[in-house]
Parts: sequence; C-alpha cells; structure tokens
Amino acid sequence: MQDFKIAPSILAADFARLGQEVDDVLEAGADIVHFDVMDNHYVPNLTVGPMVAKALRNYGITAPIDVHLMVEPVDDLIGMFADAGATYITFHPEASRHVDRSIQLIKAAGCKAGLVLNPATEVDSIKTVLPQLDMLLLMSVNPGFGGQKFIPYTIDKLRQARAAIDATGQSIRLEIDGGVTADNIREIAEAGADTFVAGSAIFSKPNYKDAITAMREQLAL
Ligand code: DX5
Ligand code: ZN
Repeated sequence: MQDFKIAPSILAADFARLGQEVDDVLEAGADIVHFDVMDNHYVPNLTVGPMVAKALRNYGITAPIDVHLMVEPVDDLIGMFADAGATYITFHPEASRHVDRSIQLIKAAGCKAGLVLNPATEVDSIKTVLPQLDMLLLMSVNPGFGGQKFIPYTIDKLRQARAAIDATGQSIRLEIDGGVTADNIREIAEAGADTFVAGSAIFSKPNYKDAITAMREQLAL
C-alpha cells in the first residue's frame, strides 16, 4: 500500500477553537496539519502567521505542520515559521525573486522545502530545482479561498509531476491542494498524488472521522 497522507487545511476550521479543531482532525485520522498563510498581497485574502503555528505547538500539537505560504515576499517569514515549529515550508515560485535562495533558506532553517505551482504554472518550469525539494504541491484551484471546485486539467499536471519526480529517483512528496473530496480523491491518487489537502471536505462535515475514513476507503480501493 502506498504511503498516502491526509492533510486537513485549517482554513476551513473554526478559528475560535483552533487547537481543539486540530486535535479533533488528528484524532480522526489525519496525518499532517495544512497551515494556509495568506497576506492580502500575493492572494486576495488574509489569514494567520507564525504566532498561530507557535500557539498550536504550545497547545501540544506534535503532528507535522505543512506551512503553505501564499505571501510575497517569502524570505522574511521563513525563519519565523521555522522557529514556530513548521515541518514543511512551501512557497509559490512567482512570489520569490530568488527561488533557489528561498529553498536554501528553508533547509538551513531546519525545515523541509516545497514549491507550490498555481494552476497556470507549468511543471517544467521548476524541473531544475525539483531534486532539491522535499515536496511539490500542485494547486487544483486558484489560491486564496477554500471551498472552490477542483480544476480538471490538474489531473494531467499531476501525471507530469509524478513522472518528473520519479525521474529524480528521490522521495519527494506530491501534494494536491484545492477541491479534494472523497469523490475525486481516487482519481487524484491514480494520477500520482500521495498527499491530499482537504479543507471544506473535512471541516464542513459533522463527523471528521467519517469524512477522513471515506477518503481512506477510496484510496484503499
Ligand atoms: C487555498 C488553500 C487551500 C484550501 C483548500 O488557497 O491553499 O489549502 O484551504 O480548501 P478546500 O479543500 O476547501 O478546497
Ligand atoms: Zn493550501
């Protein structure tokens, strides 16, 4: 069985009770906490920063925290998120003037590094730096908001990304973010993804365990 990971996005959680919400999804079987950071500059929405990641660590969350930076510029926040307890830090190449340098900063800070490709950004555009990455994240919606519909052409991009990752011979996670549900997760996995972000498909459900189990059942088929 492949090593599939489910990463609920806190964007869809109840922020007034964030610690408990994160505890609840982990208890329900989630593997990774997907932490969406938006700056009302790179994307037209505003969320949370390193203080909140730190608060989750202080609350006792020990699961990997996958910090998805939708901010511009990128570099200033890397050290702060590393200090706050980030496990992965991913960023959009369009948001960094020097992508290689940003990757090196993340690694030097002791975190795993990833790049995030918007729907219109080609997989080929990051091929040169791919071997340096721990994760490649493909956006299957335009970043900024939860609850959007999965863009179908992402399936083809996932196949390209899977082939590019396999060609490196390294273990690089292939994550998908946006519009993932129990109805499409199987097709997404078959196209090559191994890490699945899901916000509304988990947090909008009354029972998180049922929502995550429904996804895992599809992955086990
Ligand atoms: C969008 C965020 C996603 C989002 C996913 O910019 O990066 O992580 O929260 O939400 P759903 O699963 O509802 O599409
Ligand atoms: Zn995200």
